[in-house]
Amino acid sequence: QAPLKIGVAGLGTVGASVVRLIDRRANALSAACGRAITVQAVSARSRGRDRGLPLERLRWFDDPVALARDPGIDVFVELIGGEEGPAREAVTAALDAGKPVVTANKALLARHGVDLARRAEKAGVALNFEAAVAGGVPIVKTLREGLLGNTIERVYGILNGTCNYILSRMEAEGLSFEACLKDAQRLGYAEADPTFDVGGFDTAHKLAILTSLAFGTEIDAEAIHVEGITQITPADLAAADELGYRIKLLGVATRTEAGVEQRVHPTMVPKSAPIAQVNGVTNAVAIDADAVQELTLVGPGAGGEATASAVVGDITDIARGFRPAPFGVPAAELAKPARAPM
Ligand code: HSE
Repeated sequence: QAPLKIGVAGLGTVGASVVRLIDRRANALSAACGRAITVQAVSARSRGRDRGLPLERLRWFDDPVALARDPGIDVFVELIGGEEGPAREAVTAALDAGKPVVTANKALLARHGVDLARRAEKAGVALNFEAAVAGGVPIVKTLREGLLGNTIERVYGILNGTCNYILSRMEAEGLSFEACLKDAQRLGYAEADPTFDVGGFDTAHKLAILTSLAFGTEIDAEAIHVEGITQITPADLAAADELGYRIKLLGVATRTEAGVEQRVHPTMVPKSAPIAQVNGVTNAVAIDADAVQELTLVGPGAGGEATASAVVGDITDIARGFRPAPFGVPAAELAKPARAPM
């Protein structure tokens, strides 16, 4: 089979790691997919910056939309970030040109996921976004494929690595909020605008995606009550500690009689609870469901390599011709297949 040609837009921490990971794993990926996967072209804001990548071997595009439409590219990988502007324009252009898209952009999906999902359905191509939620933790696949036999009652967890890193270090080392945030930025965990992290909005974006996957509803980030961690002090953490609790920023979505309730806020968790043991940049997503009962996935929620791992997994699905279940599109809009007899 012909090699799968990838175009990567955005060469920040994650984008550069994706290019490196595909190169490093070339033989294994080719064996797993029955065809080679090669990065052919890239796009980023500044061409001159040294990223330690062999850019001379790749075609360069200043405009991500032109890259998305380029006939030499089979799959468009969007790692630019941001809910509007170039990221949205380029993803829309790729889908409308009938190209599968892989994105890590939770803000884009939280705001425009329904529109993008409709375009992907219309074009009959994959829109894959494993890296958009909980970094390297394969929670999207788990919900979109592995748990389709379940009715889900609740999905909740620690969905922002930066906040969990800050809270963990403030508690363990008594450091200030500002010092911990600086370290999270230096390590490449934080968003370009860290208000998204510490204000709880990044958690809300991810929760909106999880809710849609878990409950089959349209994405609705507007409906989420959001409170971040900016008001939490070392004294709060110490007081919680004395009472036998830790403070974690949780995103929670619960099925209720009135519909799905979604909220994001700092929460006191008993130290004995498994989720209280999750420290540092690690994320944890827990699911309560009727068949599988309880399930928790724990792993790195941010960072270049860990997030690139999820992006590459999505690309291999496309290389193998696998298209996951539709997501984000109201069920009524999807063609209803006849139910097969038992
Ligand atoms: N800023 C995000 C976090 C990156 O800290 O979790 C991963 O989405």
